[in-house]
Amino acid sequence: MNTTPFFLDTETASYVIGEKALESSVKQFDKYPRYVVLVDENTREHCLPVFQQNLPDITINDVICIESGEEKKNLDQVLFIWNELTRLNVDRDALMIHLGGGVLTDIGGFVAATYKRGIDFANVPTTLLGMVDAAIGGKTGIDFGKFKNQVGLFVDPVSVIIDPLFLKTLADKHWQSGFAEVLKYGLIIDHELWQWLYGKNYREIDYWNKIIVRAARDKINIVRHDFKEKGVRKNLNFGHTIGHAFESFFLKMNKPVTHGQAIAAGMICESWLSEQRMDMECSKREEIVEMIDRNFPRLPVSENDLPTLMELMRQDKKVREGKLHFSLLKRMGKAVHDKEVSSGLVLKSIEFYLHNS
Ligand code: GLY
Repeated sequence: MNTTPFFLDTETASYVIGEKALESSVKQFDKYPRYVVLVDENTREHCLPVFQQNLPDITINDVICIESGEEKKNLDQVLFIWNELTRLNVDRDALMIHLGGGVLTDIGGFVAATYKRGIDFANVPTTLLGMVDAAIGGKTGIDFGKFKNQVGLFVDPVSVIIDPLFLKTLADKHWQSGFAEVLKYGLIIDHELWQWLYGKNYREIDYWNKIIVRAARDKINIVRHDFKEKGVRKNLNFGHTIGHAFESFFLKMNKPVTHGQAIAAGMICESWLSEQRMDMECSKREEIVEMIDRNFPRLPVSENDLPTLMELMRQDKKVREGKLHFSLLKRMGKAVHDKEVSSGLVLKSIEFYLHNS
C-alpha cells in the first residue's frame, strides 16, 4: 500500500502526521544552519538512530541528553540544558528538535522558548501520548514545588512530526496510557472515533496509523481555536480533574500509576457526573464504563482514601474561588466546560467508581 502522511499548516505550526511522516518532513527542517537534538537516555538509544536513518540529509550538530521521568520535569534539568546550549555556543538561528515523550517535549519547549528570548523548535514525539496530546498545542513547562506544570509558557513549535514508526519499541503500559487520551477525544469531540474503538481492547487494534492521524487532528482542531485555554480547550480536561487527584495520590504513596490509568479512572467518575449534572443518558454512561473497564483495571482505592483525594482535588488549577469546575459530557462526542459541581457530588462519583465494577 502506498501511504502518504497528512500535512497541515496552521497559523503557528506545521504538522506532518502518519506513516512516513519522518521521511517526508525534510522541508520542515531544511532552513536551519544548526540542529540541536534533545533526547533522554531511552530515546537516544531507540529513537535517535531511527531519526537519522529517515532524515539522512539533516546533519545533527549537537545532541543534549536529559534524564527521563516525570520526577525529572524540573528546574535542574532546565538549568542543565541552558548550560549546555551556552557551552556549545548555540545561537538563535538554530533549531532544537525534541525527540521524546511528553516530559521531554514540555521541558524542551520551555527551554527553547526562553533561551536567548526564544529559538525555533520542532517536536518529534516518540510515545502514543506524545503523538496524540503532549506534542500538540504549545503547552510547555516544568513541575515546581508540589505542583505539576506550575511554571511554563504557551508557545507553539514550528513543526510537529508525528510518525508511528517510533512506537515499535513502546512498552505496553505506555500504549495503554496513550489510549486513554484517544478514548477521550472520542468522548468529547469525535463520536465516530469512539465507534471505531468501542468493544476493543487496545492490544487487539491494528489500525493505529488511522487512529493517530484522527486523534492528532482532533486535538489540533481544538487548540487552533483556543490556544490559551480560555474556552473550548478546557474540554480536553474531561476525566482530568478527578484523574489528576488519582495520579497525585498514587505518586504520594510511592506507587505511581500511568497518566492514562489515572485519567481512565477519572473518566469513569466524570461520566457519572455527566449523567447527574448534564443529563447524559444512563446507557451512554454504561457504555463508557464498559469500554474503560475493558482496557484499564480499576485502581486500588478505598473509602479511607476519599478525604486525601478530595484534598488533592482542591489543590488543582481547575479550582476557582474554592469551587470545583469540570468539563463534562452532554452526550457522546459533545463536551461542555466550566460546569460547577458540589464537593458532595464529586465524592459520590468516586464512591460510584469504588462500588460499581
Ligand atoms: N493536554 C491538554 C491540553 O493540551 O490542553
